[in-house]
Amino acid sequence: MTKKQLSTDNQSNQMWGGRFDTQPSDIMQQINASIGVDYRLWRQDIDGSLAHCEMLVKQKIISGDDGQKIIEGLKQVAQEIESAQFEFKVELEDIHMNIESRLKDLIGDVAGKLHTARSRNDQVATDFRLWVREACDELAVKVENFQNTLQSLSKEHKKTIMPGFTHLQVAQPVTLAMHLNAYVQMMTRDKSRIEDCRTRLNESPLGACALSGTGFDTDRVYTAQKLGFDKPMESTMDAVSARDFATEFLFVCAQCGLHLSRLAEEIILWATPQFGFVNLSDEWSTGSSIMPQKKNPDAAELVRAKTGRLNANLIQLMTVMKALPLAYNKDMQEDKAGVFESFDTLSLCLDAMTGMLSTAQFNIDVMKKSTESGYATATEIADWLVRNLNMPFREAHHVTGLIVKLAEGKEYQLDQLTLSDLQSIEPKITDDIFNSLSLDKAIESRLK
Ligand code: ARG
Repeated sequence: MTKKQLSTDNQSNQMWGGRFDTQPSDIMQQINASIGVDYRLWRQDIDGSLAHCEMLVKQKIISGDDGQKIIEGLKQVAQEIESAQFEFKVELEDIHMNIESRLKDLIGDVAGKLHTARSRNDQVATDFRLWVREACDELAVKVENFQNTLQSLSKEHKKTIMPGFTHLQVAQPVTLAMHLNAYVQMMTRDKSRIEDCRTRLNESPLGACALSGTGFDTDRVYTAQKLGFDKPMESTMDAVSARDFATEFLFVCAQCGLHLSRLAEEIILWATPQFGFVNLSDEWSTGSSIMPQKKNPDAAELVRAKTGRLNANLIQLMTVMKALPLAYNKDMQEDKAGVFESFDTLSLCLDAMTGMLSTAQFNIDVMKKSTESGYATATEIADWLVRNLNMPFREAHHVTGLIVKLAEGKEYQLDQLTLSDLQSIEPKITDDIFNSLSLDKAIESRLK
């Protein structure tokens, strides 16, 4: 929203000003207004109002004629917002009152009938659930796109040998496919968390009104169905005060962002000249204004860093909600900024990781060389001793340690040691052990 669209005329509030003699102070308006954030709920607010209005007509709470005027008016408001003709006003506080006020401009006092048997408390909870539901759907698609990219890289690199690390020290040989597949699995769980969150949030608060429901003969099942909810929420007091759907969404975003940050960190390491495992495309790198040789993995660094915001937003809302008494409290207006930001941030991170990885070039030879130079097959020697000499594993581990030490002293790789080198440590070792020292064999024996 541009500054121009956000007017700050200082009138008393048309929506609740009845019992007030003076208008709120400027600062009061500033602290109270949420329109700068919750304008993003406009479409959900219109949809919720359309469903509510149709229900009021069906239940004969308002006349068909009035309902028709309201519906046409709401559609015009939607069209004005969509085409950026709408003027959002700070003195009207939030998206709900901005829309209703414009509706009144357009169709007159009949607009006031729309708020029969409704409160902003159930209205905002409904809008927000609808918004988060869509956000879940969009994120699920982005996670899937990213997963597809990882999967096609995995296919391409089934035979690409690289060192597997523990403690960031070379541990055992793995394939790039094995490495990337770990992230595919993380994304599978993240997607299922998104789906769970969507399923749990998909109940309708509409009709809970301020907190205790209404004396009007409303039909909550009808509005729930119209809005694609599974059913109305059971407790009206819970309906207006629950925000665990939002904290859950924030957690799901934070967790997925955390997974992305781990891969981002690996890409950053792998793209260093010291590792040299991967070249990022120019499209996904930046240069330095002073050091001409530099090609920096900024996108990956930013994905790594964005977890700060994602985690912060989760803690922010959990802190807002902690110890809040039932039912609605204005504190809860602080629920949206973090959710919007986490959605935007995670969407961007997923897109960036998808783009960056789909254009990355892995240096197969460098990866293999690095595996060879890290004594990655030491465990294979130990396993050979166990299998062929019936040695207890602990002893085999010790003997292999001596072999590694010998190789280190000679500045050899393990497969450069001769049979007599090996036999100087364990005389019963035979030629057959060299089969275990090949990286391909070590990988093969694990992939079966
Ligand atoms: N802007 C408010 C929010 O986001 C809407 C609900 C206001 N309800 C109230 N009782 N003041 O929470």
